[in-house]
Amino acid sequence: MTYLTQYGPGPGALPPRAHVVSDAPRISLAGQWRFRLSSGVPADADCADPGFDDSDWELLPVPSTWHSHGHGLPAYTNETYPFPIDPPNVPDENPTGDHRLRFTVPDTWAGTPAVLRFDGVDSCGRIWLNGRELGVCLGSRLPTEFDVTPHLLPGEENVLVVRVHQWSSGSYLEDQDQWWLSGIFRDVALIARPADGVPDFFVHADYDHLTGEGVLRVDCDAEVTVAVPALGLSGAAPNRPHHVGVVEPWSAESPHLYDGTVSAAGETVPVRIGFRTVRVTDGVLTVNGRRVLFRGVNRHEFHPELGRVVPLDVAREELALMKRHNINAVRTSHYPPHPAVLDLCDELGLWVVDECDIETHGFWISGAEVMGDDNPADDPRWGDAFLDRMVRMVERDKNHPSVIMWSLGNESGLGRNHTLMADWARSRDPDRLLHYEGDAECRLTDVRSRMYPTVEEVELIARKEDEPLDDPERDARRSKMPLVLCEYAHAMGNGPGGLRAYQDVFEHYPQAQGGFVWEWLDHGISHPRYGYAYGGDFGEEVHHGNFCCDGLVFPDRTPSPGLTEVAKVFAPVTVSGAADGRQIIVVNRHDVLSLDHLVFTWSLEEEGLPAARGTLTVPRLMPGDRADLDLPDLPVTTGESWLTVRARLAADNLWAKAGHEVAWGQCRIGPFAAPQDPPGAVPATAAPRSPGATTRRTEADDVRLGPAAFDARTGTLLRIGELPVSKARLGVWRAPTDNDLGRGAGTPLAERWYAAGLNRMRHRLLDMSVGDDHLFVRTRIAAAGQRAALVADYLWRERGAALALEIRVEPEGALGVPLPRVGLELTLPDGLDEVEWFGRGPGEAYADSREAARVGRFTRTVDQLQTPYVRPQENGNRTDTRWAELRGGDGHGLRVTGEPFFDFAVRRWDAEALDNARHLPDLRSDGSVHLSLDAAHTGLGSAACGPGPAPDLLLIARPTQLLLEFKPL
Ligand code: GAL
Repeated sequence: MTYLTQYGPGPGALPPRAHVVSDAPRISLAGQWRFRLSSGVPADADCADPGFDDSDWELLPVPSTWHSHGHGLPAYTNETYPFPIDPPNVPDENPTGDHRLRFTVPDTWAGTPAVLRFDGVDSCGRIWLNGRELGVCLGSRLPTEFDVTPHLLPGEENVLVVRVHQWSSGSYLEDQDQWWLSGIFRDVALIARPADGVPDFFVHADYDHLTGEGVLRVDCDAEVTVAVPALGLSGAAPNRPHHVGVVEPWSAESPHLYDGTVSAAGETVPVRIGFRTVRVTDGVLTVNGRRVLFRGVNRHEFHPELGRVVPLDVAREELALMKRHNINAVRTSHYPPHPAVLDLCDELGLWVVDECDIETHGFWISGAEVMGDDNPADDPRWGDAFLDRMVRMVERDKNHPSVIMWSLGNESGLGRNHTLMADWARSRDPDRLLHYEGDAECRLTDVRSRMYPTVEEVELIARKEDEPLDDPERDARRSKMPLVLCEYAHAMGNGPGGLRAYQDVFEHYPQAQGGFVWEWLDHGISHPRYGYAYGGDFGEEVHHGNFCCDGLVFPDRTPSPGLTEVAKVFAPVTVSGAADGRQIIVVNRHDVLSLDHLVFTWSLEEEGLPAARGTLTVPRLMPGDRADLDLPDLPVTTGESWLTVRARLAADNLWAKAGHEVAWGQCRIGPFAAPQDPPGAVPATAAPRSPGATTRRTEADDVRLGPAAFDARTGTLLRIGELPVSKARLGVWRAPTDNDLGRGAGTPLAERWYAAGLNRMRHRLLDMSVGDDHLFVRTRIAAAGQRAALVADYLWRERGAALALEIRVEPEGALGVPLPRVGLELTLPDGLDEVEWFGRGPGEAYADSREAARVGRFTRTVDQLQTPYVRPQENGNRTDTRWAELRGGDGHGLRVTGEPFFDFAVRRWDAEALDNARHLPDLRSDGSVHLSLDAAHTGLGSAACGPGPAPDLLLIARPTQLLLEFKPL
């Protein structure tokens, strides 16, 4: 099977050209094909014979990945190849899907040259038309065209046969972190190529920001004509510049496109032209003379039911969803997307880093810093294959204004084959920049790219205080480059934490030009038992578990709290209160737009209830401008009052309706004792108190304090009003998040927690005393085998119809590890389904992921308070809560008031059950309601693949107190 194991590109393909949809006849071959899966490469190719009887084969839709239709099992690995590293050989067990289609071509095609175009076949396809072999597709996410003119039978039945192999030499270059899925997963079309048609062309549309004028040049090797009616251009010649006067430039914020055509006698091709000029000026990446700040995401092409097939309407909606969350850039990790996605990016306005379909990560020697010597990137035998992939990407996508950088691929080390790619791309398209994160010294690139640096590292680079390169010349060159984080803020599970800190650096240093959150989407596969399956769920020999579920949206593309946080941190307008509480500060953080497209409103809430509202007049602010505005006339309020300012779209656009909220900000109004922006940290206190005198006992062996009853022997809370309570005691455990479990910052926090036994703490009563109006209980909390402990003092007091609690916690000995959280947990009866609170919300929030939570009054059911992370883990925390009420259907329940604030979470299972669950269906109600009321949580960080929480957000065990009041409802 030489074609499977040859290094170079597949034989038989035509030279690549731009993806266009012209008026030349075109027949989509999408539909139901006949399909047969073999576990290895079949010995013969009988099925290529048009007369072959395939009537007993199954039907399979094309485009599809066959694993998504019940044929074979998907496998997930991050960097490890799921086959021996033995390049360019592939295993004998090489699942092979034969696909057959009969189709007719109208008579009118007779005499017309035609091509067969495959937009994506994973990983290798051998192709026959009417029994004649056309060639081989290699390069899964790249198009291949074959000339079918001599073989096509117009007016008759044609038989197309595609033999797709899961593994090929190409698989060595496609080791991206994703599911291994095979098939003809993008469109297949028969396209007429009239002899007098339009050959390939290259649109260059520059914008001069000083004059506002555009220059259009369409390069083409034929006598085509170019027309752009809106510019008064018709019959324009190719290959020379046309000065078209003042134009509206293209940018992600204002994606103005001019519709035009490129025509020849026998064909007209519509084009959408965006004028823009990309430059690095004084170390800053500019488009049209303006600095660009990437508020980006990495986007893979994945669908939970359809595998690599992402229907166009789904893609459109997901890009619109990005826009609605203030995302302005996409890195097409780690391969060129479906070609229509770039049309959408042009239209909706997203900066694109178009990445080549190359990753050889599995050649990384385990534990080492570098790729192995056999890495294809530096092996000349792979040179043509590398270059071929770059050429095919650039040629396919060269006419998209949204694409402003080409990326040489991902995680493939650095080698001579990258030089081939870069040299070619630079000469073919000098108007775009080159990116490649693997080129740490920036020998080949125009931008410096990093993944997962700490905020401190980003700042050092931005200040030019980072470790210089040995070669001073190269160092000087690199330090004049824009810095882009091609990946940061790993959004796996609950997180990322710490987005704000990065954004502050990006907003401060011009050369730190933002980045791309890893990643947009969780790659969970819909599964009847697991809900969403991840690595290992299909019995893979090697896999990387749920590392594929690291997106800002869940597999069905519903937003996770991470996306809400992104929307707030990326907001192109910031609104905040001045320190004196008398003014509102509005800053325009757009790259291009003024705020004229937004309408500002304000609302005042007192104790979370509406008190007044109005519109806010904001003067014209250009990008970077700031206005300090006087507060509107507000009614006098006495309770805690917050002014919320919202910036909404004034009119519909392509990605949102008028009224869509782009940005918001809050400021606290009036005199207040509490800080404007409570830090959510634990107040330290004096030493634990000594118990008071014992005086009172009740007849029934219960201790009664106001509405509450306690076990007289153990001091355990039994009831508040009618509400039975159990296990009311100190809790420190949280079901580790993926970030807690992550190695990005060294030994995972969670590993240290388990070692310290924080998930199996035992409570021992040390002391107890009862006074007239109080109960004092002291316990020691420690894990088996451990000396270190926490000592908790609970001072319960009668306070009229309420019960007050003061908990003080103090470490005894060194725990040696930060606590996951610290607070009181209570188990309450089932049926308390509704929760209302005044504090930050409505979404979950943690110490380093709380920008998106505003202060207000919210109501949610217990079920709504859970966040369905694909792998269950800590979630649902609400922070800075002033009070919370849990109510049953009859309105009875419990009110908890903080002095001043607390965090809370309510669940139908406890933290241990959450920790033990592997998939969402594992979580089942245990018949009670578990409430945690916390002084604080350790931050989230991004250690699943990156830095951990900032040091000050690690909850170091120290004297801590929490003040609460309970009232039965
Ligand atoms: C990066 C890689 C991505 C992904 C990420 C972790 O190293 O480029 O493809 O694996 O780490 O989720």
